[in-house]
Amino acid sequence: MLLEITGLSAHYGRIRALDNVSIEIGEGELVALVGANGAGKTTLLRVISGIRPASAGRVLFDGKDITRMPPDRRVRRGIVQVPEGRQVFAPMRVEENLLMGGYTRGAAERREALALQYERFPALAASRNKPAGMLSGGQQQMLAVARALMGKPRLLLLDEPSLGLAPRLVDEVFDTVTALRDAGVTVFIVEQNAFQALSIADRGYVMETGQVVLADTGKALLTNERVKAAYLGL
Ligand SMILES: Nc1ncnc2c1ncn2[C@@H]1O[C@H](COP(=O)(O)OP(=O)(O)OP(=O)(O)O)[C@@H](O)[C@H]1O
Ligand SMILES: [Mg+2]
Repeated sequence: MLLEITGLSAHYGRIRALDNVSIEIGEGELVALVGANGAGKTTLLRVISGIRPASAGRVLFDGKDITRMPPDRRVRRGIVQVPEGRQVFAPMRVEENLLMGGYTRGAAERREALALQYERFPALAASRNKPAGMLSGGQQQMLAVARALMGKPRLLLLDEPSLGLAPRLVDEVFDTVTALRDAGVTVFIVEQNAFQALSIADRGYVMETGQVVLADTGKALLTNERVKAAYLGL
């Protein structure tokens, strides 16, 4: 397993946001995490990237215990999170945003990674000299993902990448995520758009009030009665 989480708990003061969570993600897998507002999805991503501490349990990455490793060292090991709400640097140009994402790499590798992102996202190439804030919402999301890819992550963490986007752009985001998996990137995606997330996922987890309540293949979860009733509006 690339990522192996066992018995993880996390708190905000006395609020327990994660309660004995265990999940695993294999190299090359696309894994989706779905759940209602406040279920603890973002908190889980934050504990994986090291921004929030675990109060119990452990996180293994590539077999190594990283539970107490600081976030910058996790980034260097290949764990990169795209935060909720596409936080690009609005006044900076698209290309500058991308280059910042490659800060852990040398100059030659950064140029190579930049060319790859422009090939992958032609819309970004066309806007390379524009301030990021002038891009549409969908393009800003694309930029946030491309910036994360600049560091050649081994594990890409996506927090609600389709949030607030028009339906056509939502499809584009899911197509992009599928293409990344097909290119060999391991992806852990958090989504409220459960139907689309589970449709593209190899496996999925369902979280309720800090606990994992279901784990199965994406396909099986899509036809699970409990998931259908609670998350798919069926
Ligand atoms: N900074 C914080 N301080 C205190 N409590 C927090 C904080 N962030 C989150 N929480 C609480 O922790 C729980 C889990 O929140 P979290 O943001 O992880 O949920 P989520 O599944 O990502 O929800 P959403 O779908 O709204 O993004 C919630 O009860 C939330 O109110
Ligand atoms: Mg969240």
